[in-house]
Amino acid sequence: MRSAALKLEAVGKRQPDSPQNWLFERIELQLEPGEFVAIRGESGLGKSTLLHIIAGLERKDAGEVSLCGQNVDSLDDDARTLLRRRQIGFVFQSFHLLPQLSARENIALPWRLNALPRRELRERVEALAEQLGIVQRLDALPRNLSGGEQQRVAVARALIHSPTLVLADEPTGSLDPERASDVLSLLGQMGTAAGAAVLMVTHSAAAAAIAQRRLEMRRDGLHPL
Ligand SMILES: Nc1ncnc2c1ncn2[C@@H]1O[C@H](COP(=O)(O)OP(=O)(O)O)[C@@H](O)[C@H]1O
Ligand SMILES: [Mg+2]
Repeated sequence: MRSAALKLEAVGKRQPDSPQNWLFERIELQLEPGEFVAIRGESGLGKSTLLHIIAGLERKDAGEVSLCGQNVDSLDDDARTLLRRRQIGFVFQSFHLLPQLSARENIALPWRLNALPRRELRERVEALAEQLGIVQRLDALPRNLSGGEQQRVAVARALIHSPTLVLADEPTGSLDPERASDVLSLLGQMGTAAGAAVLMVTHSAAAAAIAQRRLEMRRDGLHPL
């Protein structure tokens, strides 16, 4: 049997400024390859914190996180870093493109970090850019791209190394909701077509509605929406 792309068991995080209280607790989630799931929740509930915990950017205070069937706490630091770098693609809310790199170089970053074969890179960047409608913009710097183009570059970067899990944190920046959600549907389609599991968090019910499965985040866990 294929292992789950992501499994969360009783994951909890304490409030940074009052650690006697939980920000959230008892988060349970299993995501299979090819699934597109959205978690909706109010601002300040800890959605970004939860994605950062999954991506290893923040520490959890309770529970277990498994990626591709491996409990991340059972690995040493190097193995954990490699697993995450190889298996996760991340689309941040404000895209986090590196300002001094062209769109093409930004998209290529996860590929280079994973030392994947150089000869396939150009082809893959162009194929993704084609699907996202940004082929003509690949040599531009982020500051010369529109918000929508930056979002598309961020999506291509999250998919370039064929990760098992794509995490998307309200990846709408300052875009108007309708334009932003076109690309989010595309992210879901492209990710799941490539066999990845896609997990998006958002405060917007409209954005969550494009996913196959929707959950509501509350302090005490995830609930069907
Ligand atoms: N670095 C930090 N220091 C102190 N409090 C923080 C920090 N980051 C987040 N928080 C608090 O943690 C809570 C959850 O934040 P966040 O995960 O960004 O929520 P969401 O993404 O759901 O809006 C918020 O109440 C926020 O104020
Ligand atoms: Mg957030």
